[in-house]
Amino acid sequence: MARILITSALPYINGVKHLGNLAGSMLPADVYARAMRLLGHEVLYICATDEHGTPAELAAADAGMEVSSYCDKMHDAQWQAGADFKMSYDYFGRSSTQSNHELTQHFAHMLEKNDLLEERVSEQIYSNADGRFLPDRYVEGICPNCGEDGARGDQCDACGKLLDPADLIEPYSAVSGSKDVEIRETNHLYLKQSDMADRLRAWIDKAEGWPNLAKSIAYKWLDEGLHDRAITRDMKWGIPVAYKGVARPGFEDKVFYVWFDAPIEYIAATKDWAEANDVAKDRDWQSWWRTDKGADDVTYVEFMGKDNVAFHTLSFPTTLIGSGEPWKLVDRLKAFNWVTWYGGKFSTSQKRGVFMDQALDLAPSDYWRWHLTANAPEGSDAGFTFEDFAARVNSDLANVLGNFVNRITKYCVGKFDGKVPSGGKWGEPEDKLVEELAARLPRLIGYYETMEFRKAAAETRAIWATGNEYLTEAAPWSQYKTDIDQAAIGVRIGLNLVALFGILAQPIVPDAAEKILDAMNIPTDKRTWNFGKGDWKEQVKAILDALPHGLEISAPDVLFAKIEDADVEEWKQRFRGHD
Ligand code: MF3
Ligand code: ZN
Repeated sequence: MARILITSALPYINGVKHLGNLAGSMLPADVYARAMRLLGHEVLYICATDEHGTPAELAAADAGMEVSSYCDKMHDAQWQAGADFKMSYDYFGRSSTQSNHELTQHFAHMLEKNDLLEERVSEQIYSNADGRFLPDRYVEGICPNCGEDGARGDQCDACGKLLDPADLIEPYSAVSGSKDVEIRETNHLYLKQSDMADRLRAWIDKAEGWPNLAKSIAYKWLDEGLHDRAITRDMKWGIPVAYKGVARPGFEDKVFYVWFDAPIEYIAATKDWAEANDVAKDRDWQSWWRTDKGADDVTYVEFMGKDNVAFHTLSFPTTLIGSGEPWKLVDRLKAFNWVTWYGGKFSTSQKRGVFMDQALDLAPSDYWRWHLTANAPEGSDAGFTFEDFAARVNSDLANVLGNFVNRITKYCVGKFDGKVPSGGKWGEPEDKLVEELAARLPRLIGYYETMEFRKAAAETRAIWATGNEYLTEAAPWSQYKTDIDQAAIGVRIGLNLVALFGILAQPIVPDAAEKILDAMNIPTDKRTWNFGKGDWKEQVKAILDALPHGLEISAPDVLFAKIEDADVEEWKQRFRGHD
């Protein structure tokens, strides 16, 4: 049994997330958390809303609301969307809490003590029309890298390059549109990442649990030479640049940069989780985060989209290592590419694509969870179309899993009184089935352990298909005409397969799995992945005869209704998906 701490990148507060965000952080983290719990590990899965920075202020202004009430409202909306998608967070916190304020200020204090913070004069864009500095997304203009118009001060969406507002060509205010802007000097706190480059590189060289995507992004930044970064901004909303209630002189109108405080919220949310759940003092939040308090036996796994990698492999570790305190660093990092929308981009600001709340008006959460896992943007970007979604749901969930469950449970109810039958002779089809499953089950578990989600979904589907092949061969329905006893073994093994399929389906399609397991009358404590170390063939034989003979089962209602072509057409119109 291991202790596994899981975090997924904190969604910005500025709106319910689209399916691309979901597929590249929260969903795989949830699937992984569920699988690890099933394997008996002690899991803590933490997420939260990322409530500071220009995204929050601008979205609140757009909605005509006070930032703090906007955040209250959107936090609830995102919590609800997560709950509806069956996210099994142990805690879904907020980066604007008191605990994050304190912890963020603590880290800044420690960094300063260790000579890693420095006040520097910096050039910022000041808007005369708005009477304020324009940090990050408050300023837009032409991207110096790709020449696209509409690049934001912090990043160009067109080419993905991280920017500094002062880099923009022909800048204008995103608040008023005014071009009457000028460069003015003001002081900011800089995190001296360049001083940390060697320590970071040594740590990354040793890191074992990072996939290539994450390592190559981190090395690219290191090779280009790490820049020191300003960790304060000219804004009202955010964490004050203060320590123990006293503002830093000259920083009264500034706050910490959102990317400084957001990852610290992983820790603060754990603290809030412990408090909200009255977690015992001897195994409190620090036992997850401080290696001097028991966290040395924790495996910390982070999930995120590729644009977040630099922050998690360089900036956040700089904060943690630079504090000089024994904080837990990421052990394994899973980064994702993008899900594309009919070849283009999902976009929150342009409201392009399907958003989590809308998605559930179209189809149940299991359908999305299945498709987005089976089609996870792991090795490369993954295209989303309603056509693919419908095809995959119909073939995998409705035809393979749904049909199997339906066929055998109905048959058992019709011919065997709805009871698991005894009798029948073990033969060739059974041997073949054992052989197949004994090879596939450990492989499936392996894919979860290595966080290869496409492969985990494909293997799960292959296991379901194996069941269909078995039933076709054992053909209890034709046996029944001549030899009821021999039909019994096909039905019994079929029912045990239903139970196994339900148990294996839990991480990806938890609702359907629950329906299946309820119909099979499996007690909750028998739904785990309690696989032993023994010979897999022996284990599979036991699995195929696990249900007590005579146990009453029922046929679940339709598990997966098929998606019709007409639905696809209608959705395409409604969401303007193009070919
Ligand atoms: N809100 C950021 C984004 O959506 C992610 C923040 S992750 C954290 O890109 F680590 F900073 F919390
Ligand atoms: Zn660009």
